[in-house]
Amino acid sequence: MVEQVPLFLAPMSGVTDVAYRLLAREAGADFTSTEFTAASGLSRHDARSWAKVETHSRESPFIPQIFGGIEDEMVETTRLLSKNADIIDLNFGCPAPKVTKTCAGAAMMGDPDNLVSMVERCIEASEVPISVKMRLGTGQANITVLEIAERCAQLGVLRICVHGRTLSQKYRGVADWDLIRQVVEITEQYNTPVIANGDVVDAKSAARCLEVTGAAGLMIGRGAIGDPCIFGRIKSELGWEEFEAPWGDGNEAVQKHWAWNRYVELVDEIGGPHAARNMKQHAISFTKGLPGGRELRPHLHAIKDFRLLGEPLNLAFEAYSSRTHNTLAYPDAISLAESLKNIEFNRK
Ligand SMILES: Cc1cc2nc3c(=O)[nH]c(=O)nc-3n(C[C@H](O)[C@H](O)[C@H](O)COP(=O)(O)O)c2cc1C
Repeated sequence: MVEQVPLFLAPMSGVTDVAYRLLAREAGADFTSTEFTAASGLSRHDARSWAKVETHSRESPFIPQIFGGIEDEMVETTRLLSKNADIIDLNFGCPAPKVTKTCAGAAMMGDPDNLVSMVERCIEASEVPISVKMRLGTGQANITVLEIAERCAQLGVLRICVHGRTLSQKYRGVADWDLIRQVVEITEQYNTPVIANGDVVDAKSAARCLEVTGAAGLMIGRGAIGDPCIFGRIKSELGWEEFEAPWGDGNEAVQKHWAWNRYVELVDEIGGPHAARNMKQHAISFTKGLPGGRELRPHLHAIKDFRLLGEPLNLAFEAYSSRTHNTLAYPDAISLAESLKNIEFNRK
């Protein structure tokens, strides 16, 4: 049996809003963090940036993730956030050109001295522990993760998460779990836990990733989009702790139905202008991989007021998960979606 380790919901911009993070925890994730947020905005007290690092009293520990290429901005942001955060995560993994062109995110992997100096100063400025999330390097010819991870461990970071791809790979190819194993070995002497990330999509790949890497934890990103119950399933299928699944012992459709309803409830509970900002994206994601999802999606897309999406999707799930229909494209759900599509979004 594979020994139990903590499971992390990967930070994902446009996905891991507060409600989704709470949902993932209820569904079995042990740790969650915010999507990456620009230190340039946070250090200038920009309201939109601060909205991205909102949390909830049930999210403990609270781990905001920040990125930036300017050391002073990262240090100032760390100082500001450390008043409320439990841990602050520094992002050295984002491959998006709008981030890397400012020498932030994964581009920092090409400049180990700069990265290490940034981490050192953030640790000094912070009242709470600092963790780091990184890629393998900027490209196959420039694998810097071993040097950088060891130097970060020496500085005393709380943990190191490694996504087993390079910047130039973006999301292509397969994650290199063997290299993550080398990171685990090199940082062992400092007792720094390494969290393995990349291509874990079910219990089988979770077990395999742990066998290959020997990591102290697993982080799951794309596998948790539209399927937050993946965390509970991994725990149950690997015979880990008694995880009491809030969805009972139902199949994938029942799990998604439970998760969608619970997400809508959490968005309502959190309230405020930002809580529902990713709702349409989530609604679409929840239908992926299920029969009739492809037919239902355009009708969901057409609904302008995303707060109305709950009803047709719920109806579709109800019909499908209770097996009265063998497809999500349930005609009543489609007509309901059609009747809602022209209602304008009214912020009040
Ligand atoms: C839509 C999306 C948004 C992401 N946003 C972030 C982010 O804000 N911060 C971060 O560190 N990584 C981000 N990532 C990378 C993931 O955290 C993770 O490292 C990557 O998806 C590999 O894990 P996976 O194979 O389990 O998906 C994002 C990935 C996706 C697909």
